[in-house]
Amino acid sequence: MARSRFRHARKTLLIIAAAIVGAGGSVLGSGLVGAGAAHAATTGPCDILASAGTPCVAAHSTTRALFGSYNGSLYQVRRASDGATTNIGLLAAGGYANAAAQDSFCANTTCVVTVLYDQTSRHNDLTVEGPGGAGGQDNPVPADALPVTAGGHTVYGLSFSGVMGYRDNSTSGVARGGQAEGMYMVTSGTHVNNRCCFDYGNAETNNLDNGNGHMDALNFGTECWFSPCDGSGPWVQADLENGLFQSNVGHSTNTSNTGNRSSYVTAMLKNNGQNFFALKDGNVQSGGLSTRYSGALPTSPSGYSPMHLEGAIVLGTGGDNSNGSIGSFFEGVMTAGLPSDAAESSVQSNITAVGYGGPSPVASGTLNPGSTISLRATTSGFNPSCVSFESRNYPGDFLRHSNFQLFRQPMDGSALFRADATFCPEAGKSGQGTSFRSFNFSTRYLRHFNNTLYIASNGGSNAFDSATSWAADVSWAVSAPWAP
Ligand code: AHR
Repeated sequence: MARSRFRHARKTLLIIAAAIVGAGGSVLGSGLVGAGAAHAATTGPCDILASAGTPCVAAHSTTRALFGSYNGSLYQVRRASDGATTNIGLLAAGGYANAAAQDSFCANTTCVVTVLYDQTSRHNDLTVEGPGGAGGQDNPVPADALPVTAGGHTVYGLSFSGVMGYRDNSTSGVARGGQAEGMYMVTSGTHVNNRCCFDYGNAETNNLDNGNGHMDALNFGTECWFSPCDGSGPWVQADLENGLFQSNVGHSTNTSNTGNRSSYVTAMLKNNGQNFFALKDGNVQSGGLSTRYSGALPTSPSGYSPMHLEGAIVLGTGGDNSNGSIGSFFEGVMTAGLPSDAAESSVQSNITAVGYGGPSPVASGTLNPGSTISLRATTSGFNPSCVSFESRNYPGDFLRHSNFQLFRQPMDGSALFRADATFCPEAGKSGQGTSFRSFNFSTRYLRHFNNTLYIASNGGSNAFDSATSWAADVSWAVSAPWAP
C-alpha cells in the first residue's frame, strides 16, 4: 500500500508540480530568467515616438519611466491589512520603479495593483475592470507576483491570472472611428494560455462586443482563432473584435511565424484605421523586430476596413471582458498616428537597452520564487516562506484544496482561491524533507493518502487524517522538475 501510494503521488505531482512560489500566496510568473545589460534609458520610448510625429497618448508601466523627463507615479497598490493605498513612483526622473517603497508598504501583508497611471498628460489611467458582456467583475493583479530586473534594479511586472483586467472607458486622445494608431507592449512568452484574450489596446467603451472593427488591440497568447496557425505560439495578433487576426484573412499567412517564446517579448501593432495594419515582435533582451504581417485590413467579413474604434483602453481581457486569459505586462504605449518602421526599430533598441531579466538566477529544483520544481515523497529541502504551485503544462492553473482535497484549477483571483492555494513550508515532520502547512487551515499539511492528495491533520475524523504514517506522508523532497 505504501509503495503504491508513493508511486501515485510521484505521478500526480509530475502533472501538477511546477513553477513558482512567493510569499503570502502571491503567484510568481513562470520562471522568467535572463540576463541583459543594465543600462538605464536616457530617452524614453515616448520621446522617440514624439520625435517621429506619432506621440504617445497613453503610456503605462510598472517598471520604468517611458519619457526621459517623467517623474510621477507609475502605479497604485492597496494592501490587505488595512485597505490603505499608496502610489509607487520612480527612483529618479526618467528612471526605474521604486520597488523598495512597495516592499516597505506591503511588508507583512499582501498588496494588489489598483491603478496603472498613464505617464502622458492625458491621464488615461487604468483601473480594475468592471463586468462586461462575457465576464464579471475582474480582480486586481498581486503586486509582488513578478519580480524582475530592469536597468539593474529589481522591479515588479504584472502577472495576470484569469479574471484579472484593467480598463479606462473614458480616454483622451486615443484613436476613434477610422483614425490611425500604433502600440506596443513588453510581455512574456512563458506565461500564456489559449483563452480569450490577453489584450492591450483600443476597445469598446461599454465592455460589450459592439461588432467587427470596434477593437484594435495587441493580443499575445496561444489562442489560434482562425486556423491554421503555424507552430504552437504564443503569437502576436491583432484583436480587431470577433477575431484575433494574424493577417487580413485571419489565419496565418506567414509560415515562419511559429510564435515567440522568449522570456520577454516586444509585441507591436499599428493600424491606419482605413486599409492597413502590421504586426511585429521581438526578443526584449536582444535583436530587432520581426514583421509578422504588413498589409491590408480584413475586408471579408466586413466591418474592419475602415475601423470603428471607440477609444477605450483595455489590459488583460477582451473587449467584452472575456477574462479567461493569462499573461505578463511590463510596459506599453499607444500613439496618435501610425508610427514609422524606423521609430518602431528605435523603440525596440530602447527597450533592449533596459536589460530586462530575472532578479537573480534561481536554480531549477530549489524551493525559491521563480524556480521550477517537482515534488516526490521524502528527502531534504526547507524554505520558510509560503508558496503556491503553478502547473507546468496548464499555466495559470494552481494546486488548491477544496473540501480538504487537492485539485488543479485556474486561478480566479479570489481571496479564497489565494488562501486555498498557499502552503507554508516547514521542516519535514518525519525528520526529513519539507512539510507544507495549509495557509488557511494551519493544523493541516499537504498529504498523500490512498493515491489522493489532501490537506490532513495528524489524527481526526476523516480517513485521510489518520495518524498512521502521517509524518511520512506529509514530508516531501524538493527536486529537479520532471518536465523542463
Ligand atoms: O476578438 C476577440 C474577442 O471577441 C474580443 O476581445 C471580445 O470582445 C470578443 O469576445
